[in-house]
Amino acid sequence: MSKPLKVAIAGLGTVGVGVVKILETHKDLIRSRCGRSIEVVGVSANNRARDRGVDISGYQWSDNALDFAGQDDIDVVVELIGGSDGIAKELAQKSLAAGKSFVTANKALVAHHGADLANTAQEAGVALRYEAAVAGGIPIIKSIGEGLAANELNLVYGILNGTCNYILTTMEATGQSFEEVLTEAQRLGYAEADPTFDVDGIDTAHKLAILSSVAFATETDFEHVYTEGIRRIEAVDIEYAREIGYRIKLLGITRLTEKGLEQRVHPALVKKNEPIAQVEDAFNAVVAEGDFIDRTFYQGRGAGQGPTASAVVADIIDIARGHTGPAFFVPSGELKKAAPVPISEHEGACYIRLHVQEKPGVIADITSILKEHDVSLDVMLQKGHEQDGSVYVVLVTHKIQEKILSEALNRIGELSSVQEEPLAIRIENL
Ligand code: HSE
Repeated sequence: MSKPLKVAIAGLGTVGVGVVKILETHKDLIRSRCGRSIEVVGVSANNRARDRGVDISGYQWSDNALDFAGQDDIDVVVELIGGSDGIAKELAQKSLAAGKSFVTANKALVAHHGADLANTAQEAGVALRYEAAVAGGIPIIKSIGEGLAANELNLVYGILNGTCNYILTTMEATGQSFEEVLTEAQRLGYAEADPTFDVDGIDTAHKLAILSSVAFATETDFEHVYTEGIRRIEAVDIEYAREIGYRIKLLGITRLTEKGLEQRVHPALVKKNEPIAQVEDAFNAVVAEGDFIDRTFYQGRGAGQGPTASAVVADIIDIARGHTGPAFFVPSGELKKAAPVPISEHEGACYIRLHVQEKPGVIADITSILKEHDVSLDVMLQKGHEQDGSVYVVLVTHKIQEKILSEALNRIGELSSVQEEPLAIRIENL
């Protein structure tokens, strides 16, 4: 049997503790699967004394995770600290440059610096692995990068943020507002105290930028991911969407066409009988389409100790088996720079919710602006009477270019009878 693979873990939060637990619990299973054992040599975290429910007394403790990059007895550094820059980035650069493989669950780090880190790893002849960074326990990086490697991929999309999916499905089930569900989710510990990255779509955008690179062999380009979150969705939108046969999901969508790379994150109406629409609670799901495979669908837990640690340990096992191939499945010099396709060029049908005064001529004013911009309607509903004499008007457009629709909506939003900025949610017939 080959010599043990020696691992250091930087960060002993929920996921780090999960990694320690799996490596202990499945020590023998993992040894037989790799043909060698995996040994934790060192650990590092902020607080040595904290009771984490696992025994770390047998591991070398380090107050500074950067020490691991300089230690000869470490083969793999596992980074579970987080953040796109700072210590996580420095640890990645130093560890890889020192010839240590690097495993991370840090989507921000990979989304921002993936191409550079992949290059450093390749030059050093070591592995950079990040399965846990996207969709937690779903092995989507390997599925796309290896399982679908015979295909040219056309489209990848998914529900990549469990917090948002939990909020949207709970709003649908209970009729509660976004704020009510978010507050309850924070109280139960499902949502972070600062939910910005989750609810504003940034977490999904990080994951999408990584998926684009894996699927299309393009350099990670987080800066050009169009990103919108779910804060403006109201329970009425979920109800009206259901009436016309849709559910609302926060999607990340990436597509490479002759126009360039389209990467967008936003709430979307998806047909309620599509598998992606059936994904409930905090689950994640990914759809990947290839030219020979057709459509594939993956679903599982996108967060939590067990699923995320499972993905981290799978990466360590991969390295123990001697797989040190390129991080994005092509040599790093072959990663393409793709031209970003601006969201203004996107074309599709759209759900629009207007909150207007109930008085004569309001609909006429709205439809006359739509006519001037050549926006054609498929559905129009007027919903309810609020006590203040306002109503909701819901419009569903036919396929329209985003640039044109937003010009029309800007003008509609300026009408004195329109009481708040129009809400537009793209309809995805993917
Ligand atoms: N905060 C993420 C989510 C999990 O809610 O899905 C980690 O990526």
